[in-house]
Amino acid sequence: MNGRGRLVLAFVLAASGAAASAQEAAPPDPAEAGRKIYVYSCQRCHGLNLATNGIGFDLRTFPEHDKARFVRSVMHGKNAMPAWAGTLKPEQLDLLWAYIGSVNGWKAAAAPK
Ligand code: HEC
Repeated sequence: MNGRGRLVLAFVLAASGAAASAQEAAPPDPAEAGRKIYVYSCQRCHGLNLATNGIGFDLRTFPEHDKARFVRSVMHGKNAMPAWAGTLKPEQLDLLWAYIGSVNGWKAAAAPK
């Protein structure tokens, strides 16, 4: 093999390695997906990394066992908290729940309850 052939081979190997590692990361991380929704929709009231800025409820203290309350409050709103039913889909609520669970260290966070 000449020098150029080796160079091409090295490039192909490097590219396939990159593709393989992208695939390993493949099952999308629900907590990371939820974080993006949180930053976009919730953070301005609920604070960076759930640490309340004094406007919204401190989501670090939300009860782990009460996903039904979470869904109800977020979808229908509560006092100064707007309703999200027209904006967010149930799957997106699951992602938010996974994100909140991951920040709070809940064991079954990623598994929808
Ligand atoms: C405009 C400000 C605002 C935004 C944006 C906002 N919230 Fe809230 N949120 C509040 C306030 C204020 C409360 C406290 C409501 C109360 O109990 O009086 C609250 C309460 C909550 C609660 C607790 C409800 C309960 O059952 O006690 C949850 C859960 C929550 N918010 C989740 C979210 C999520 C998830 C998002 C993003 C999709 C979000 N909030 C966006 C203001 C906001």
